[in-house]
Amino acid sequence: MSTRVNVLKALEENKGNVISGEELANRLDISRAAIWKAIQELRKEGYCIDAVTNKGYRLAHDSDVLSPEGILPYVKGDLEGRVHVFRSLESTNLTARKMALEGAVNGTVVVTEEQTRGKGRMGRGFHSPPGGGIYMSIILKPQLEAAKSVLITTAASVAVCKAIENVTGIRCQIKWVNDIYKDEKKICGILTEAVSDFESGRIEHIVLGIGINYRIPPSAFPKEIRRIAGSLFEDEIDKSTCAGNFAEGEPQRNRLIAEVINQVMEVHTDLEARTFIEEYKERSIVLGKEILIIPTIASGGERDLSRGIPATVLDLDGDGGLIVRYQDGSVKTLNSGEISIRTIKS
Ligand code: BTN
Repeated sequence: MSTRVNVLKALEENKGNVISGEELANRLDISRAAIWKAIQELRKEGYCIDAVTNKGYRLAHDSDVLSPEGILPYVKGDLEGRVHVFRSLESTNLTARKMALEGAVNGTVVVTEEQTRGKGRMGRGFHSPPGGGIYMSIILKPQLEAAKSVLITTAASVAVCKAIENVTGIRCQIKWVNDIYKDEKKICGILTEAVSDFESGRIEHIVLGIGINYRIPPSAFPKEIRRIAGSLFEDEIDKSTCAGNFAEGEPQRNRLIAEVINQVMEVHTDLEARTFIEEYKERSIVLGKEILIIPTIASGGERDLSRGIPATVLDLDGDGGLIVRYQDGSVKTLNSGEISIRTIKS
């Protein structure tokens, strides 16, 4: 491991507290000059590190630069070497997919500060500006038949909601299939992509892509999505300073990323037990509601809003399918991916 990484690791483990140059030098068995050089490098990357006279160095409690060193202290289990953080990527799902094909193991995580071509469901894009978003993909290798891959999507929605609640105290809701909502605005989207073995019918790997608007002010969203897109926190941060933007103890993105990993890894081991279905129902914003089922135009993944079919949501089945009753009285179970839905406001 490089000196830069070792110094960052020690600072992240002591975030908000001073650690002396001497202690760092002894711990890492390098000179104090080498420590100073690493500190300068980290500052250039945007880390807020105070040099406290006669005491040592302190990484600001509100440092929010994404890094494996910032994420791993909060991850349960050993994912050392499996969390990869980038400054900019086309799409974390794309990078994770390449890694999976090259043999990356279960639990490998790809995170980026921004995406230049973030992918959404049904061929749409996902707006992924730098600064306040979380864009991450987790490679999973569940023992599951391909036909049951929808379970991972349902489970992931619950896992993300639990992670958000554990870290921020904010209770989110789920709009079928897997959009996460806060105060009637979408703050997170999930895109699951599976590769399965044609002969055995079993899943080889799944790339679970999660995009969370963590701290994106309304003005940062393109006009066309401003009405529906929200963010967990909306306050603008003062970009002229790298410290003092958040109160002591206020969680940062690294911490939430770690908790999302924890919750996903926990739930994915026993998907067939379907323990998450009850919580999914509790958090659902469509159960019992009148909805419009919007067919997608197959070619471009566009939604044909003019052809919405009204129905009532009766229940969710054990696989996360939505049981609906049409106006002619017929009942059908809708499966992931075939439609979009829109609640009718009464
Ligand atoms: C949707 O709401 O349509 C799904 C959006 C999924 C976005 C995430 S961001 C991380 C991962 N990488 C991508 O390109 N997409 C997913």
